Amino acid sequence: MDAVTQTGPSASPASKTQPEVHSYFDAATNTVTHIVADPTTGAAAIIDPVLDFDQASARTSTKSANRLIAEIKKRGLKVEWILETHIHADHLTAAHYLKEQLNAPIGVGRSISSVQKTFNPVFHQPYPVTDDGRPFDHLFANGEQFKIGNLVVTVMATPGHTPACISLLIGDAVFVGDTLFMPDYGTARCDFPGGDAGMLYDSIERLLALPDNTRMFLCHDYPPAEREAAWETTVKEQRTHNIHIANRTREEFVRMRTERDSGLNMPQLIFPSLQVNIQAGQLPLAEDNGVQYLKIPLNQF
Ligand SMILES: [Fe+2]
Repeated sequence: MDAVTQTGPSASPASKTQPEVHSYFDAATNTVTHIVADPTTGAAAIIDPVLDFDQASARTSTKSANRLIAEIKKRGLKVEWILETHIHADHLTAAHYLKEQLNAPIGVGRSISSVQKTFNPVFHQPYPVTDDGRPFDHLFANGEQFKIGNLVVTVMATPGHTPACISLLIGDAVFVGDTLFMPDYGTARCDFPGGDAGMLYDSIERLLALPDNTRMFLCHDYPPAEREAAWETTVKEQRTHNIHIANRTREEFVRMRTERDSGLNMPQLIFPSLQVNIQAGQLPLAEDNGVQYLKIPLNQF
């Protein structure tokens, strides 16, 4: 089954000096992909793109990624970066496919190499793999700045959900990956290798120290029956209404998060996702019969 992608209510910037954001919700994996663009030059970045994957047939599709490319062309944008907020465990990334189609580099947080070091041995691929950040093109340090057109992007290391999570502050908008979800859903799990609930709390505190009206864009939504999927909120809304954060001390948060995580199942696509995503979305090389395989390690998690 193909993923259903919906275009969200476009978040209009307060002025031409602020980023224009177009968001696309993938109903198959509850993931939100954002296109962030400089309204003055048309320079743009894609954040957290999805490669469609049907697990039962083990078939991949670039339908959603092609829809993104069509949107980019329609809007006359020039993609300068493909950015991953972290190594996702619930969907495959289309970063590599988009890099080939759009000729743009893939950027990720610097601690990605520790995530590769953790998972490369588990998947034990029958060809050389590196754990120095390759094949990602650029590893961002905490506080590093770069430009998308005239927009300045500041990279914030926001570990906790994973050790390599980053958030991207661009003008009055911040893209927080899997740190916070919508206020009625809370925060991301911290039980993956290298995850840490206390670290997530500290990262969230840094995000919530941004100005009140900062537009906050999320990577996922799991909407309750009474509302549509949503992915945009504000720093103030999160600080005052997030059900995991508002009125909780660090200690209370860590206790709540740890208890909650102990009852969660592994994400359905964790094995396909991790082995593809630590390679920036490159699918495994074909074996000598010409077939590509994904591996499922037994009794490792
Ligand atoms: Fe995640």
